[in-house]
Amino acid sequence: MSTRALGVRASVARPSPTLAITAKANAMKAAGVDVISFGAGEPDFNTPEPVCRAAIQAIEGGFTKYTPSAGIPALREAVADKFWRENGLRYEPSQVVASCGAKHSVFNALWVLLDPGDEVILFAPYWMTYRDQIALCGGVPVVVPTRAEDRFVPSIDDLKAAITPRTKAILVNSPSNPTGAVFPRETLKQIAALAMRHDLWVISDEIYERLVYEGKHESIAALGKEIQDRTITISGCSKTYSMTGWRIGYMAAPEPVAKAVSCFQDQVTSNPTSFVQRGAIAALALPDEVVEGMRAEFASRLDLTLSELAGIPGLVISRPAGAFYVFVGVQAYLGERCRDDVAVAELLLEEAHVALVPGSVFEGPGFLRLSYTASPEQIREGIQRMARALQRCS
Ligand SMILES: Cc1ncc(COP(=O)(O)O)c(C=O)c1O
Repeated sequence: MSTRALGVRASVARPSPTLAITAKANAMKAAGVDVISFGAGEPDFNTPEPVCRAAIQAIEGGFTKYTPSAGIPALREAVADKFWRENGLRYEPSQVVASCGAKHSVFNALWVLLDPGDEVILFAPYWMTYRDQIALCGGVPVVVPTRAEDRFVPSIDDLKAAITPRTKAILVNSPSNPTGAVFPRETLKQIAALAMRHDLWVISDEIYERLVYEGKHESIAALGKEIQDRTITISGCSKTYSMTGWRIGYMAAPEPVAKAVSCFQDQVTSNPTSFVQRGAIAALALPDEVVEGMRAEFASRLDLTLSELAGIPGLVISRPAGAFYVFVGVQAYLGERCRDDVAVAELLLEEAHVALVPGSVFEGPGFLRLSYTASPEQIREGIQRMARALQRCS
């Protein structure tokens, strides 16, 4: 084998620990171990049938060739309609770019916005992909911590203190992975005001927008024309319609950004899969009850999860207002046996056969991310197992 070194960029993107934990849990399951997984970042529902039918019909009808890189006009129009209907945001279809998942849309946005050394502010705990993508695009992540006692909503003073002449963008993720935090309108307004005062971009990843359990989701770009003109709003089908494997997401952005992303996509991936685009159009046309049914199910699982967790002494829990995660503080269980959250997650997987993701993956040390995308029976059983195993921790 050649001993020639890889390029520096090869070491920038780290393996995803979330996928690694899921893979380990799956391997244990395959070996016959009864593992309960609270690790996955995806809904456990089937993709709604009309979506599957639309994609199958597209394949059967021969819709299997290249499409325009930014997506077919009907999809860009359906996304623009969705933004108006659900978010109160007016976008022309030409401002919409469909990509292979919201993850891809975030990367595209960072790629076209950043110059080497540009700083991007993100709030911790954060989805670790952001940090690696910023670095891959030559940027510098600047982390603003948030606190469980504030329900992981950022302090505007902390944000102000992080802004420097090199700041190029603020990354907002509400509802948040991994904390489930939903930023109140007032916080969004203050972030928008700072972005305007310091001439910054805002990248708003709203992939969990339909999974909100208190109040209603707000898009930062909907606060006014001035902030919309400097915001890239990103969402997709993965979480709302249980379509994680389909790989379809989208952004809506000021025209020059959308054009640049479309050109970039031309040279890197071309279009998102043709027949998946037809599935996405069907998803966006689903009656509200379908999404509401999944949201209501998650709301009831959240209540169950919190009431079961309440039986374990010493945990730090702040009620999440969105997404499908609870970010649980296990600081009280750290000591000789388990020195950090990674050790607690290992103990839980190996001894209790319960998979959770250590918080330090998201720059939230001392916590574990519990994804309640499991059946109510599994939630009850999994948390009881956690309770027994944690007793052995300290
Ligand atoms: C905050 C956040 N954004 C984006 C994504 C990825 O979405 P997609 O499957 O559309 O790429 C995830 C997936 O876990 C996420 O948690």
